[in-house]
Amino acid sequence: MQLQTIDLPRCYRLLNHGPVVLLSTSDGTRTNACAVAWIMPAELDPPRFAAVLDHASKTYANTRVAPECVINVPTVDALAEVLVCGTRSGHDGDKLAAAHIATVPSSTVRPARLECAAAWIEARVIGEPAAADTSVLLLEALFAEARPGVIDGDGLWDVLRHPTLHHLGSYRFAVPGSVRTA
Ligand SMILES: Cc1cc2nc3c(=O)[nH]c(=O)nc-3n(C[C@H](O)[C@H](O)[C@H](O)COP(=O)(O)O)c2cc1C
Repeated sequence: MQLQTIDLPRCYRLLNHGPVVLLSTSDGTRTNACAVAWIMPAELDPPRFAAVLDHASKTYANTRVAPECVINVPTVDALAEVLVCGTRSGHDGDKLAAAHIATVPSSTVRPARLECAAAWIEARVIGEPAAADTSVLLLEALFAEARPGVIDGDGLWDVLRHPTLHHLGSYRFAVPGSVRTA
């Protein structure tokens, strides 16, 4: 399958609609991934994102060792993987292997991509304003790709054909059902 390379100045459009993502990181030995709902575009050029991470997570610990990650953007088809990554901790072992969540090598960073995603933004950590129990990781995109058809002819995510997951809280997600053009 030929993935679509996304121009970096436009890669914010992979997250502009606010989907939950799976953030993969590495401790230098193995890739781990956690669910992250608190993530948003933060700057257009250079393309940057802000993600809130719990200090207790293995993901946060990994970014201290290797300040890079992949923002994996899943669709509804990957709900099971989102729940595994969002409810188990990499501190307790290799949850990706235990749940048979496949990875594929990234192009520019050491953490692997998750095959279950529909688009990927490879990024490095460039800053980290800290709160009490969390940090806001400032991420700068290095490379972005999407599966064919995910991005429509206007350069926007086709949420009707490739519906993303939008976290409402608890284990409930909204899934886009309509699009209006103003
Ligand atoms: C839908 C969903 C969204 C989540 N969003 C966040 C988030 O924005 N930031 C965060 O630190 N944890 C978030 N979590 C919790 C982590 O994914 C969870 O604590 C995970 O087990 C951490 O894994 P790790 O220790 O392997 O990094 C979310 C969990 C779920 C299920």
